[in-house]
Amino acid sequence: MALRFLTAGESHGPALSAILEGFPSGVPIDIEALNREMARRQGGYGRGGRMAIERDQVRILAGVRGGVTLGTPVALEVENLDFPSWEDVMSPVSGREGGRGVYRPRPGHADLAGGMKYRHRDLRNVLERASARETAMRVAVGAVCRQLLEVFSMPVVSQVLSIGKETATPAAIAGDRLDEVRGAVESSPVRCADAEASARMVAAIDAARRDGESLGGSFEVAVLNVPPGLGSHAQWDRRLDCRLAAAVMSVPAVKAVEIGDGMTVAGLRGSLAQDAIYCDAQRGVHRLTNRAGGVEGGISNGEPLRVRGYMKPIPTMYRPLPSVDLRTGEAAQAAVERSDICAVPAAAVVAEAVVAWVVADAFLEKFGGDSLEEVADNYRRHLQYLREVWRWTGTSFS
Ligand SMILES: Cc1cc2nc3c(=O)[nH]c(=O)nc-3n(C[C@H](O)[C@H](O)[C@H](O)COP(=O)(O)O)c2cc1C
Repeated sequence: MALRFLTAGESHGPALSAILEGFPSGVPIDIEALNREMARRQGGYGRGGRMAIERDQVRILAGVRGGVTLGTPVALEVENLDFPSWEDVMSPVSGREGGRGVYRPRPGHADLAGGMKYRHRDLRNVLERASARETAMRVAVGAVCRQLLEVFSMPVVSQVLSIGKETATPAAIAGDRLDEVRGAVESSPVRCADAEASARMVAAIDAARRDGESLGGSFEVAVLNVPPGLGSHAQWDRRLDCRLAAAVMSVPAVKAVEIGDGMTVAGLRGSLAQDAIYCDAQRGVHRLTNRAGGVEGGISNGEPLRVRGYMKPIPTMYRPLPSVDLRTGEAAQAAVERSDICAVPAAAVVAEAVVAWVVADAFLEKFGGDSLEEVADNYRRHLQYLREVWRWTGTSFS
């Protein structure tokens, strides 16, 4: 692994933080672009009251000077604006139960399992960290990684494919249609490129809210202009598909991941499941389809990376499920914390961020260097080799 990161922070604590280690020097960092990513995570129809309180702004504490990375660990911080109303409870120094303890675990959340594991009676000690507020830092880290990918013209995009039972016709995310698809996604309240499906999804969220219910759904993340050669078949944990799957699965509430057309091809005969290889003078070695989602044998093959995530419905329910009161052992309804009804659009943004980190990590592994200049030199040589030996015309950067 070339690029590591850790995050810390409780949902209602003073702040969230992250350290990104292994990032090369010389990469320009646009703080406005980081904050735009933070705002994208906070959006999406179906979010709860918390997102109206927070206006996430990244503070860079280390690793960047004058808007350019130093090659030292990049430290990031996001303040929790809600902390002052929680200081009595969440202060690292004086925080106490304060009547805000949680004793009725929510099915589907980390409450019960976390309480058993860490020996916490007050489940707030678990849920404060299990809360998806943590994903804010993953978006911040991903936003830094995206700035490296942008230097090499590798955009990371996503679209929501379904919410509840409402499904969209997926937009083909390709270089020449990138702006069009992005525009459609970013102007949809549920980040879905299919306008008609988008309206149905909004109606489904409204209906779920009225019924005290919640909804899940699915999304796709794509990365364009990925060169052949990231990841490796040589060892299981170096496989790019494995790393992408783990990263997307790590997004809270994601319960299934698909690379390319993984689920569909499982039911097809072999001749329809692979991407045949062609070669001509103009295009060199190329494919006409991308069922593999840009990865074969754990190695990027030069086609766009495509990975899908399937998110379960939000576990906090305003009409709660049966649970138990841990103080009495009596049957009780599960606790209710302020909550989203549906967070699939936001989960897609988080998934973009973790995919950006995986691709940046694999890119640095292959073309690694301590400075952007060194990485770019190594990458240029690889592209030259591909052009000369394989007549590769697929990827380039200026
Ligand atoms: C962006 C995003 C927002 C979420 N918002 C909530 C929420 O408001 N309420 C909730 O109960 N779960 C929410 N979740 C899901 C929980 O964090 C998740 O279900 C919980 O941590 C348990 O993990 P698991 O579902 O992966 O087992 C959200 C997830 C994501 C990705």
